[in-house]
Amino acid sequence: MGSIPEDHLDFVVLKLSEHFGKSKVVGIHVGNFLGISLCHIGNWMVTQDAESKLICMDPNLNHRGITRCNDVAMKLVQHFKLQHQIINIVGYSLWKSVSNDGLNYTGTYDPILNFEEEDSLEFQLENLSGLLHGQIDFIVLDGNHNHKYLLEELNHVNKLLKYNGLVIIDDVHEDWAAIKETFELISHGNQFTKFDFDGRIGILRKIEDTECLQKA
Ligand SMILES: C[S@@+](CC[C@H](N)C(=O)[O-])C[C@H]1O[C@@H](n2cnc3c(N)ncnc32)[C@H](O)[C@@H]1O
Repeated sequence: MGSIPEDHLDFVVLKLSEHFGKSKVVGIHVGNFLGISLCHIGNWMVTQDAESKLICMDPNLNHRGITRCNDVAMKLVQHFKLQHQIINIVGYSLWKSVSNDGLNYTGTYDPILNFEEEDSLEFQLENLSGLLHGQIDFIVLDGNHNHKYLLEELNHVNKLLKYNGLVIIDDVHEDWAAIKETFELISHGNQFTKFDFDGRIGILRKIEDTECLQKA
C-alpha cells in the first residue's frame, strides 16, 4: 500500500525506454515513500546509460505509519547501489502541506494534530526550476495528491522539461477523481499532450510551440 505496484512501474520504464531509447537521461522523482518507484526507475537507468541521473525529493516525514520514510528509501538506494544515479533532496516540492493527504491511515498518526511539529525544507522543485530550466527529460509526480498543488507543480515541471519531455503522474483514477480531472484538463491544454495511460499511470508529453498552435 502506498507504493506504485510493479506492473505499473514496468509500464513506466517500458514507455521511458520506447521514448528515450538508450540515451543518457536526467529525471526528477517527487514522492519517494519507501523508495520502490525510485529504485525501479533507478535500476532501469543503469541498464539505459549508467551516466543517467535521477534527482529525488521527499520531505522525509511520517507517511502511512512509517517514521522518516525517506531514510528507508535511501537504504534501498544503497542496497541497489544506485548512489551514482540518484541525487537526494529532502524537502517539499513546494509549500509545506498536511502530510498523509490529511488522512490518519494507520490510526496511530494524526497528520493534522502533528502538522506544527512536521518540519522540512519548502520549495525544492521551484528551486530546481530556476536552476535547470529546459534540461530535464522526465519527471515523476507522486507526492502531494491535492489537485491544486499538482497544478502548481506542473507549472514548474513545464519550465524544467525539454520539449518532448515526459511527465509521469500516479493515481490517475476514480479514487483520486480530482487528479484524473487535472490530468485530462492539462492534456487538452497548450503545454502538454496525452502520451499514454494504463488505467493508473498517466503520462503527458511537453509539446513544441508549433504543436500548441495546431492544438489551439
Ligand atoms: C504515494 S507516496 C509515494 C510512493 C512512491 N512513489 C512509490 O511508488 O514507491 C507519497 C510520498 O510523497 C511524499 N510527499 C508528500 N508531499 C510531498 C511534496 N510536497 N513534495 C515531495 N514529496 C511529498 C510523502 O512524504 C510520501 O513519501
